[in-house]
Amino acid sequence: MKSKDAVGDWLATAHAQAGVNCSGCHKGGQDGAEAAGAASWVRRPDHKACATCHEPEAKGYLAGKHGMRLAEGLAPMTPARARQPMHARARATELGCTSCHGAHRFDTRKAAVEACVSCHRDGHTAAYERSPHYALWRKELAGELPAGSGVSCASCHLPRDEYRVPGLDAKRVVVQHNQNDNLRPNEKMIRPVCMSCHGLGYSIDALADAKLVRDNFAGKPAGHIKSLDMVAIRVKELEEKRRRKSAVATAK
Ligand code: HEC
Ligand code: HEC
Ligand code: HEC
Ligand code: HEC
Ligand code: HEC
Ligand code: HEC
Repeated sequence: MKSKDAVGDWLATAHAQAGVNCSGCHKGGQDGAEAAGAASWVRRPDHKACATCHEPEAKGYLAGKHGMRLAEGLAPMTPARARQPMHARARATELGCTSCHGAHRFDTRKAAVEACVSCHRDGHTAAYERSPHYALWRKELAGELPAGSGVSCASCHLPRDEYRVPGLDAKRVVVQHNQNDNLRPNEKMIRPVCMSCHGLGYSIDALADAKLVRDNFAGKPAGHIKSLDMVAIRVKELEEKRRRKSAVATAK
């Protein structure tokens, strides 16, 4: 990449607006680069450069399949090493922060679908384009629906999550970059993901239907899980009991 192109890409980003300039990522670290003086320019900054400012994202990333090899000090994960079906043209692409974000653009919308489908090639991934979720995502991208209406790959696999800031009594919302965090059992997706739009019962039924998951939720759940009705009945009984108890208490 030419510096001229990098400048153009960078100028359009949140980094430029926040005052993160070239050296924010490219300046040399402790590894002797300093000694080289003016030449301490890292050509291809890795995830560690990003982690100086984006610690929770890097932490999540290193905990999932995408980053786990780096966390062990091994060469990065590539599609060639995958057991799941991947695009042949992506075989050698090394997984790092920039494999989804691009070095200077950091377009989070591109990262949410386009990046994923450039590597993944399983049936569930291919089926996504036929789902109503993708239709909503397209409308969001086109500006026909407000932000948050669409359901991208990242909506389910890299959802926003609360992060407790170490040493501070504060929480921040960040994107959970560990794509294995809510993957199995898939009920982990119900509360943080599905239920921002669907009811509990519908979400359970959909996730219990293996074929529907393979079809990336293009279709209705085939069955209905009875246990949920049992739970609902039990909750009602308990509420009824509590109401009776408190009625007795106030009568006293
Ligand atoms: C937010 C971090 C970040 C900022 C800010 C940034 N870069 Fe980069 N840059 C990267 C990363 C990461 C790569 C490596 C991409 C890769 O591995 O494919 C890179 C690669 C490059 C390359 C290609 C290096 C090569 O030899 O292939 C050039 C040139 C470059 N950056 C110039 C710049 C300039 C000029 C600026 C300021 C306008 C800048 N960068 C700002 C992260 C950044
Ligand atoms: C010197 C600090 C710094 C470094 C280093 C840095 N960033 Fe950032 N980054 C920021 C700030 C500040 C923002 C804007 C505020 C925010 O969104 O938190 C930002 C925003 C972002 C965004 C959101 C962009 C958007 O449009 O919403 C992404 C994605 C991102 N950075 C990725 C990276 C990656 C990948 C790297 C490493 C190649 C990196 N950053 C390195 C400080 C940094
Ligand atoms: C598998 C693809 C992928 C990889 C790899 C990836 N990201 Fe992201 N990242 C995303 C997506 C998708 C979003 C936006 C999700 C959304 O908006 O719902 C995002 C959002 C972000 C944001 C802005 C939101 C926030 O949490 O504040 C930052 C910063 C960020 N990523 C940093 C990083 C860093 C640092 C790395 C490497 C350690 C990294 N990303 C690796 C896909 C990826
Ligand atoms: C550069 C290629 C690449 C990109 C981009 C990428 N992935 Fe991956 N992904 C992989 C590889 C390789 C694995 C490991 C697969 C294996 O071990 O079989 C993986 C693993 C996963 C897994 C875990 C699967 C499991 O069974 O444990 C999920 C989920 C996943 N990716 C989702 C996504 C999503 C969502 C995006 C986009 C936000 C994305 N990936 C972007 C290459 C990529
Ligand atoms: C509505 C939520 C949702 C969307 C959208 C979604 N997925 Fe998934 N994905 C799931 C669930 C649920 C599973 C199954 C987890 C399980 O039960 O093993 C899954 C499984 C996966 C797996 C693991 C497959 C395996 O065989 O182990 C990968 C890889 C993956 N998804 C990638 C993607 C990609 C790429 C996209 C976008 C093109 C995407 N997903 C869109 C919910 C979703
Ligand atoms: C941002 C909101 C949102 C999220 C998050 C979301 N969905 Fe949806 N989903 C929708 C909307 C809206 C529709 C209906 C689209 C239509 O009828 O055109 C839909 C449709 C569906 C359908 C029916 C598809 C069809 O062909 O009739 C299923 C099944 C489904 N979602 C399951 C899930 C599951 C499971 C999750 C969580 C893993 C989830 N959804 C997350 C908004 C969402």
